[in-house]
Amino acid sequence: MVQLREGIHWVGAVDWSVRSFHGYITHRGSSYNSYLVVDEKVALIDFVKAPFAEEQVTKISEIIDPKRVDYIVANHAEPDHSGSIRMVLEACSNAELVATERCMNTLWKYYGGDIKATPIEKKPSLKLGKRSLSFVPVPMAHWPDSMVSYMPEEKLLFSNDAFGQHLASSGRFDDEVDAAELMQEASTYYANILMPLWRSVSRALKALEGVPLEMIAPSHGIIWRKDPGKILKAYQGWVAGETKKKAVVVYDTMWGSTQLLARAIADGVASKGVEVKVHNLGASPNSDVIADILDAKAILVGSPTLNNHIFPTIGGFLAYMRGLKPMNKIGAAFGSYGWAGGAKKIVEAEMQAAGIQMVESDIDFVFHPNGDEVKRAHAFGQGIAEKILGA
Ligand code: FEO
Repeated sequence: MVQLREGIHWVGAVDWSVRSFHGYITHRGSSYNSYLVVDEKVALIDFVKAPFAEEQVTKISEIIDPKRVDYIVANHAEPDHSGSIRMVLEACSNAELVATERCMNTLWKYYGGDIKATPIEKKPSLKLGKRSLSFVPVPMAHWPDSMVSYMPEEKLLFSNDAFGQHLASSGRFDDEVDAAELMQEASTYYANILMPLWRSVSRALKALEGVPLEMIAPSHGIIWRKDPGKILKAYQGWVAGETKKKAVVVYDTMWGSTQLLARAIADGVASKGVEVKVHNLGASPNSDVIADILDAKAILVGSPTLNNHIFPTIGGFLAYMRGLKPMNKIGAAFGSYGWAGGAKKIVEAEMQAAGIQMVESDIDFVFHPNGDEVKRAHAFGQGIAEKILGA
């Protein structure tokens, strides 16, 4: 049985097989963390996703009779953290459920209005014995109902979605998993879940300034105990929209023409010593592309014109990116067409609507690009690299 500190147990579930989290492709699975604090009073923090309800109740039962649970804290109503609610409430039949008012309202919509709960607006903290929990609403980090729970005696933050990662692992702590994999999943998670909510995340980070933190226990992935400062520092950079000298080329292709241009542009960028990542949307999921875009300065999107419109995968990607509002980027569009063009203009308009500062592009050629046109694409890539280097 895993303990964070004496009497603070992990009673969550590792989801090794989940590969899509409402469209975000989770290559390494995830976990739904829940914590049981056994003090003079007993508190359970967060539920888990529905298929793991029985597993959560079993884990609690192995530590204590569930009827001895006094409080259940729901930090967030999204179903990955509330799905086990009915089974857990039945097992922990003496527990008082505590949540923000907004969380209660959302739980009622999902699970029925008969669920009784005390709003944290009336009960902002719980004395458990030697330890206590203070509740801090962090609206829109991730949903309007979101809150975090802080245990001052242990300098321990139960942060729910914030600082999480979709990472299934046998280790529960940051010192038990591969450090590079961990940071890759933490940044991918931020890019795909929290990036558009950076203002709310930034407010939450401000609220944490000066709060002593020895451990951060999110509701997905590993617990930060070796170096909680590492993830806090990374978040500070992400909410500030920090970028590095890097470009991402995203495209799809019908007969290889847009691909030829994408490769020439990427080679042009790289020839100036700027890092470039290339994603063919026929192969890369949108969420992988967004993960690469998080710290890139430039986004270059190429689409063939299909029936006077953009290629469907490009349309899906642009809609996904627009919702996630990448910060502090320059961008350009390119493409190829048969007789009447049109895709490039549509891509440009969508990128502009996503808040990207557009660079003028004339890389849009009829049918298969000839040698001169490929050279122009290469030179265009070099020009983008120079803008990145000068930024
Ligand atoms: Fe992990 Fe917003 O739920």
